[in-house]
Amino acid sequence: MTKKIVVLPGDGIGPEIVAEAVKVLAAFQQQGLEIELEYGLIGGAAYDETGTPFPDDTRVMSASADAILLGAVGGYKWESLDISVRPEKGLLAIRSALNLFANLRPAILYPQLAEASTLKPEVVAGLDLMIVRELTGGIYFGQPRGVRTLDNGEKEGFNTLVYRESEINRIGKVAFDIAQKRQGRLCSVDKANVLESTELWRDTMTALSADYADIELSHMYVDNAAMQLVRAPKQFDVMVTTNMFGDILSDCASMLTGSIGMLPSASLDENGKGMYEPIHGSAPDIAGQNSANPLATILSVAMMLRYSLDESAMADRIEQAVSKVLDQKLRTADIYSDGMTRVSTSEMGDAVVAAL
Ligand code: IPM
Ligand code: MG
Repeated sequence: MTKKIVVLPGDGIGPEIVAEAVKVLAAFQQQGLEIELEYGLIGGAAYDETGTPFPDDTRVMSASADAILLGAVGGYKWESLDISVRPEKGLLAIRSALNLFANLRPAILYPQLAEASTLKPEVVAGLDLMIVRELTGGIYFGQPRGVRTLDNGEKEGFNTLVYRESEINRIGKVAFDIAQKRQGRLCSVDKANVLESTELWRDTMTALSADYADIELSHMYVDNAAMQLVRAPKQFDVMVTTNMFGDILSDCASMLTGSIGMLPSASLDENGKGMYEPIHGSAPDIAGQNSANPLATILSVAMMLRYSLDESAMADRIEQAVSKVLDQKLRTADIYSDGMTRVSTSEMGDAVVAAL
């Protein structure tokens, strides 16, 4: 049966990188993959056209999709808008509307890029880490929130960090299950020494570990985890953490791999339906220049094939093709170093398609 993929290019470099990922999908389509693509608006692009960053049309088409491919949202142009209609709200809204609570952010170092990392090659060589980020709860969604004016006239901003046991359990299960398919080590990251909500997080993960005797569970405070990620990242196999800590730690982890332009992600609901996007942002400073790295988005298509379309052989082929173009010394600006061949966004996409 033909699978429906909703494509949401978004803002900034989003449309450019998504176009390259679509080339990869089109190549598989020619080889018999039964998919149809439907395009929708999200983020600033949606706001400009409809007055909201997550229009109903997008909600409806995404709800009936088998998978969603997203570029990036946001840009200077929309920074002064009220927070309720800013592009980022569109992204948070689609994650929440589709219940995409499990965000998988693998950080794998391609050996060819060991030199591109700001860390010493021996620190990052062989890195293969999976960050599991809770995506629809925590402080990004907690109520009450806002900015209020106090009696003395001073303004006060406030947000709420809240987690229920059921939310911690369901993300915990995803992380333990992933650890079972990997090296069997799970590190849960919290701030249980200060925050009650994450003390509950820690206790819940510990209780859950009783069902996973084969997994070695450890706990780490987030400040230490940030330090350990840049000190000795290979100690980690799978990390599981809250929405905000996962947001921060995954950017940090991306730099271990040479560039944030290399990291894909999958956001899954309880049934494996997913949205796939690079972890980087819309990079408005380089938008429209055909210079952004499309590999994170192309690798996100690999995750889509593996997790939502049940086509893991095709996913493997994409990952091998990416490795091959790196062997060919092709580099976009973000991963360029001496002796390499600098290529544009579209040249990189074409090279991956050729290498498939
Ligand atoms: C990410 C991004 C988003 C987030 C922003 C754009 C809302 O930083 O996917 O990591 O905070 O989740
Ligand atoms: Mg982020």
